[in-house]
Amino acid sequence: MAVSPILLLLAIFSLIYGNGILPIEATHHVYRNLQTLSSDSSDQPYRTAYHFQPPKNWINDPNGPMRYKGLYHLFYQYNPKGAVWGNIVWAHSVSKDLVNWTPLDHAIYPSQPSDINGCWSGSATILPGGKPAILYTGIDPNNHQVQNLALPKNMSDPLLREWVKSPKNPLMAPTSANMINSSSFRDPTTAWLGKDGYWRVLIGSKIHTRGMAILYKSKNFVNWVQAKQPLHSAEGTGMWECPDFYPVLNNKPSSTIGLDTSVNGDNVRHVLKVSLDDKKHDHYLIGTYDIAKDIFTPDNGFEDSQTVLRYDYGKYYASKTIFEDGKNRRVLLGWVNESSSVSDDIKKGWAGIHTIPRAIWLHKSGKQLVQWPVVELESLRVNPVHWPTKVVKGGEMLQVTGVTAAQADVEISFDVNEFGKGEVLDQWVDPQILCSRKGAAVKGGLGPFGLLVFASRGLQEYTAVFFRIFRYQNKNLVLMCSDQSRSSLNKDNDMTTYGTFVDMDPLHEKLSLRTLIDHSVVESFGGEGRACITARVYPTIAINEKAQLYAFNNGTAAVKITRLSAWSMEKAKIN
Ligand code: FRU
Repeated sequence: MAVSPILLLLAIFSLIYGNGILPIEATHHVYRNLQTLSSDSSDQPYRTAYHFQPPKNWINDPNGPMRYKGLYHLFYQYNPKGAVWGNIVWAHSVSKDLVNWTPLDHAIYPSQPSDINGCWSGSATILPGGKPAILYTGIDPNNHQVQNLALPKNMSDPLLREWVKSPKNPLMAPTSANMINSSSFRDPTTAWLGKDGYWRVLIGSKIHTRGMAILYKSKNFVNWVQAKQPLHSAEGTGMWECPDFYPVLNNKPSSTIGLDTSVNGDNVRHVLKVSLDDKKHDHYLIGTYDIAKDIFTPDNGFEDSQTVLRYDYGKYYASKTIFEDGKNRRVLLGWVNESSSVSDDIKKGWAGIHTIPRAIWLHKSGKQLVQWPVVELESLRVNPVHWPTKVVKGGEMLQVTGVTAAQADVEISFDVNEFGKGEVLDQWVDPQILCSRKGAAVKGGLGPFGLLVFASRGLQEYTAVFFRIFRYQNKNLVLMCSDQSRSSLNKDNDMTTYGTFVDMDPLHEKLSLRTLIDHSVVESFGGEGRACITARVYPTIAINEKAQLYAFNNGTAAVKITRLSAWSMEKAKIN
């Protein structure tokens, strides 16, 4: 018997939508049965001591960071019920120093039609007069993504505990007139104010495979009108999540000063960061912002995979910056997901951490940004170990003793001179692929040299962060790798090796590396913050006191350690 096409359609429709809940198009895996499962296991070798995380459950993006009445506020995407993504609210913590954090009650949670199915990412803007305003994405009863406004209930409460949602919400929504895709319209930025009196804000979106930052304008922060064209878009990049747009100072020699988001002018360049959903990486473009036309023109676009820049070449996503008035500093916060299996996450009862907040500014070359852990972190450093200059011969490993190797901050610099021994690279190779082919165990000429962290005594386990210098087109090319391939005997973990080239000349500069080691995270800064790689690792032997730290050189050329300073890190008071 032939089935009528209408009946067939109805049957399919009721199969999908029969439970009355439309599937939300989220970029996170939705584990329907696991969303409320969590354990309180006391055996927790992987919990971090000085990276931000809540006591349990799932976290993702940092949201609406701001400084208000001397306190830092950090909101974040949080599942109050379990260790996988779902049931998303804005959890809230405050800090005096970006290092120690006190938890507060959830600030924003589903309570009105415009956010009844979830309170997703967004940003804070400090309005003239000092009033903070939060714009965030709500998921409405039709599972459409819309933008909402929330304001503090009591401005004299420095903790900003209660937030009142605008009765006019949603303020921006997909309609048949604007043709915006209702499942690709999210994550408002911090707004900036033009001399014309208009606030501007970006919303991440896409049309087919063209990723874009849709621009809205408003005089009063409540009535928003979509601009005729997006601020920027790029074919083939897919959905742009969590856009961020801010000015940086273009000065030589480079200063670390940050600028207020609304600043524009002669000595200013602009940065557009987008979190590419398809690749799960945070990419950024440096360019020129014409505020009269509201167009951003990058120096280099997304077309050239060799030049496109990332904040971090490891596991890192959905970041956001804040500008700090008093300190003239711009600070970057980002989310680091687990590399363990979902069942391991459920066993440990939590998933996700944030990186150490990083100061961020434009490098004096004007070609890239520089990032460095905020200076406040150094308050946790204890028991310093400093080495005199040491030569490390090819094949040598020197143990760094006197620090708690699973909870440490290490700075090391190398001087190299036997450039003739650098391996020759005939053609450009993706640096991550190069690092996977030439891991720490693969002998080289000039390198690999660097640090072995979370190393077990018999080296059954280790994570290696290192440099390797190639000869490419008659120049020295510096490769920086974070090699996780031997980080754990538990093969359920994602042990992908990461890598990037560092834009520097080792003939004239020392090769420097700083690595923050914290139980299951290895956050590394190469070339004084020009290249960052964050990795998650879960050793089974090299945990707590059993973890060891080494400087190593597996090249044929000797290298000189001109500086090694290592500190044990105290535990921060986090939530
Ligand atoms: C990025 C993201 C955002 C969204 C949020 C939901 O990780 O997918 O686009 O608002 O997470 O939790």
